[in-house]
Amino acid sequence: MAETTARTAVPKGFRSAEQGWPALHRIPHPPYRLPLLGDLVGSSRRTPVQDSVRIARRLGPIFRRKVFGNEFVFTWGARLAADLADESRFAKHVGLGVANLRPLAGDGLFTAYNHEPNWQLAHDVLAPGFSREAMSGYHPMMLSVAARLTEHWDRAAADGRWVDVPGDMTKLTLETIARTGFGHDFGSFERSRPHPFVTAMIGALSHAQRLNNVPPPLAPLLLRRSNRRNAEDIARLGHIVDEVVRRRRADGHADGDLLDRMLETAHPATGERLSPENVRRQVITFLVAGHETTSGALSFALHHLSLHPDVADRARAEVDRVWGATDTPAYEQVARLRHVRRVLDEALRLWPTAPAYSREATEDTVLADEHPMRRGAWTLVLTPMLHRDPEVWGADADRFDPDRFEPRAVRARPPHTYKPFGTGARACIGRQFALHEATLILGLLLRRYDLHPDPAYRLRVTERLTLMPEGLRLRPERRNAGRTDIPAQRTDSGQPRGPVV
Ligand code: HEM
Repeated sequence: MAETTARTAVPKGFRSAEQGWPALHRIPHPPYRLPLLGDLVGSSRRTPVQDSVRIARRLGPIFRRKVFGNEFVFTWGARLAADLADESRFAKHVGLGVANLRPLAGDGLFTAYNHEPNWQLAHDVLAPGFSREAMSGYHPMMLSVAARLTEHWDRAAADGRWVDVPGDMTKLTLETIARTGFGHDFGSFERSRPHPFVTAMIGALSHAQRLNNVPPPLAPLLLRRSNRRNAEDIARLGHIVDEVVRRRRADGHADGDLLDRMLETAHPATGERLSPENVRRQVITFLVAGHETTSGALSFALHHLSLHPDVADRARAEVDRVWGATDTPAYEQVARLRHVRRVLDEALRLWPTAPAYSREATEDTVLADEHPMRRGAWTLVLTPMLHRDPEVWGADADRFDPDRFEPRAVRARPPHTYKPFGTGARACIGRQFALHEATLILGLLLRRYDLHPDPAYRLRVTERLTLMPEGLRLRPERRNAGRTDIPAQRTDSGQPRGPVV
């Protein structure tokens, strides 16, 4: 193994693969590489992840792609992913799409470099906001937001109308994180168009993805309009977030939610607090990271449920058994929905809505005893392909089958082969939040509706750093429509404070 010295580290900033992988020539790349342009033949700038999956199937568990002058190494083989999970030699790499979000979220938790002191500070201050106790406090608010969704779907069901699944799941998850984290109400369900926060967020995420496909020196020229719109989107997001914080400060109310922690809590060991600028970045981070991926996960899960009525029936029977007569389950009753949870796990296997994470070598090392890497060299773990590796998941890896998450099947698989929430110290802080929210919603929807698919619909996945089923619509039909025991859920402690922004 090569000696670890500062001298061998690759430079800071963007590091093309040839700077950090001494044996790069051993890693395959697609045919028809073009001078200057790189591996652009047959790929679209709108679907970089799905193109990479297609290439991965041809080239194997490690491959590289060149876009203009920049070369990236992708990995997805089980052995490689397991080695990359070794926190003593590898760490999160803030690269590619994530670095492009720095103008938006700076050293917020998701986009912070490992060495930035605000990462540890914010992590320690905010982690208790995801404890079991905190989660059970969010539960009634989640139910309250869910009631708005079901009111909306009840109306659609009564009229026999289609519902826009990604649109409605986005409203639901944005309202949930806004309410539980920040005591705020964006009024998404009362609007006919998405809230400006959502429009600006989608603009910023799409722009960050676009930047990956343009040589950096040419970005100011080629993306002039997009850059201008992006600056406006970032300003709009900042403005909305400043308003949320201003209201909280004016309100003076403290109930231990994420915003209270950001504003009031000192680090337990150092006594340090988050600066106002960092609070702003964290609020943006949590509002974005806390809803976009969960909304995609729910949308994919509903798509699969609508196509597999047998799976839906089984999950529904479980909800009826575990919840009994109530439509407002207690916190503990959600974790007991094992089959519903497996539906979600399987949806996130096939379409992990945060579809890649990057790992960099923290010392000179050899990846899986095969590929030398210099300190600072990095690779993208392509999660959708890691999750479809036929050697791990079988020849039918592309088939939807929640039983893959039966405890015995999980135990039989090698470790580190299922990573929808990333890995290590920088893995998703909101994992339990997302799983609780999504399991609860699937339980509520399964119990209340039969979900009819549009026979003409073929899954199209749109990419904007995250994945989302495009144009997915379903027709909900009320089950037990004559029942009158569905309580209104709007009067619990989940009532929002303050007017709608
Ligand atoms: C199904 C839903 C979700 C998925 C698939 C998901 C996925 C991920 C992944 C893959 C990472 C690691 C990224 C990397 O290594 O670069 C991550 C980090 C993060 N996620 Fe999530 N996430 C979800 C929901 C949430 C929710 C609900 C929240 C907040 C309430 C959240 C907040 C964050 C934050 C703050 C980080 C950065 C953590 C750190 O670096 O310390 N996520 N997420």
